[in-house]
Amino acid sequence: MIFSDLRHYISTLEQLGQLKVIEGASCDLEIGAITEIAACRKKCPAVLFDSLKGFQKGFRILTNFISNRLRERLVFGVSNDLTDPEAVLFWKNRLKEFAPIEPKEAKDGPVKENVLLGSNVDLTRFPWPKWHQRDGGPYICATSSVTRDPESGYINVGSYRFMLLGKNKIVAHIGSGHHGDVIRKKYWAKGKPCPVAISLGQEPSLLVAAGTNLNWGVSEYGFSGWLRGAPVEVTKGAVTDLPIPATAEVVLEGEMLPPGAGTDIEGPFGEFSGYYGGGARPAPITIIKSILYRNDPIILGAPPFLGTSRGILSSRGILVWNELEALGIPDIKAVNYSWGMCIISLKQAYPGHAMRAAHGAIGGTAGYHGRFVIVVDDDIDPYNLEQVLWAIATRCDPETSLDVSRRIWSYKIDPRLPKHKKEAGDYTGAVAIIDACRPYHWIDEFPATTQISEELLKETNAKWGSILGED
Ligand SMILES: Cc1cc2nc3c(=O)[nH]c(=O)nc-3n(C[C@H](O)[C@H](O)[C@H](O)COP(=O)(O)O)c2cc1C
Repeated sequence: MIFSDLRHYISTLEQLGQLKVIEGASCDLEIGAITEIAACRKKCPAVLFDSLKGFQKGFRILTNFISNRLRERLVFGVSNDLTDPEAVLFWKNRLKEFAPIEPKEAKDGPVKENVLLGSNVDLTRFPWPKWHQRDGGPYICATSSVTRDPESGYINVGSYRFMLLGKNKIVAHIGSGHHGDVIRKKYWAKGKPCPVAISLGQEPSLLVAAGTNLNWGVSEYGFSGWLRGAPVEVTKGAVTDLPIPATAEVVLEGEMLPPGAGTDIEGPFGEFSGYYGGGARPAPITIIKSILYRNDPIILGAPPFLGTSRGILSSRGILVWNELEALGIPDIKAVNYSWGMCIISLKQAYPGHAMRAAHGAIGGTAGYHGRFVIVVDDDIDPYNLEQVLWAIATRCDPETSLDVSRRIWSYKIDPRLPKHKKEAGDYTGAVAIIDACRPYHWIDEFPATTQISEELLKETNAKWGSILGED
């Protein structure tokens, strides 16, 4: 289904009974807490906050907008009839056919219904929630931020959080090595500020693209177009010539200043790791020079809370799986990636196969920022953590099956990165490889499992199952 804009998506959610509207909530912790409560509910509704305390009616915030099975499939274009494993396989294969649909330029767009420039720029007119109790300030945390590589002209869109500091002043957290960081440093190396256009709400496929670790040079606009099945309409901003989504709800244009031109404290912020790993540290400031917005704008919020799902299709495991196949590593059965743990299930085909896959995962774009890579045989479902633990406990020999790779790409928000490394700007960590596969060279002699065969279970169930009842 092609959503023309965020409003079209929201009206579809309403028709499907997927939306709750809440009026009168406060940006000071209430929106965050309501979002977490809703996310933990079985149906996990999307929540549209209107008539926010202290703000003009119509200035709205939408949270939980993709975070359940049905909504994720709606945005990813995956049938709801497929089982979860079938959906993962379908999406993995579809990703391999990715062919960017480049954005279409429009002269104008609804995003220009209101344009604030110069002294009229006032970010405090817009709701910036304080999401978690220990957050250092108000944040907008589900942006789609556009920058241009000064060397190649490559347009990048990444999702980064921004903390509000004043009427025209915000501060970003952009992880080192993220493309937005690589790009801004190129401007800074020449003593120049980095132009940026920050979309605070738009049709959701762009946020999916912005938050997906695509390779350098791959267009997120092209990915979003491909995902939704139609080009994203873009238009030139008011003070930058960056392409901005023409139907966006709010776009902030400005400049990320070089660190020498001014820093301010960013953080702490409740991060996706479930910790305040980044703490509060000086970060380069961003000066906003224009605000473009639609009448009654809707800002997206995706605050990370523990226990709230980010879905299976957006999991980095699927990207790692495709990267391993692209390296020519055969017989990968599935890859699960969560909380910095990458679990690869494969059918071993040769000695060293398991370790080759592990190193491929560490070196790729999607499997980064990890702490453990666990490789299991193909009889283990990597999504079933009990099975994974069983494999580690019974097939892994701590003397010969564990390796540690050091000085691997990590990030400053890593809760386990020692203080001295953070202070020195050494955002590298260690990754342990746990080879929990049966040793390849004596795999045929490895004790058989006690598992009852599928056929015997089926036969027995047909004969006796009815006496045992449904479950
Ligand atoms: C809702 C959401 C919020 C995110 N917040 C941040 C953030 O604050 N800083 C960051 O570096 N990455 C954040 N990420 C992850 C990046 O957006 C993601 O790794 C992306 O691929 C980076 O893009 P880039 O490499 O093109 O810069 C977030 C992702 C999502 C989906």
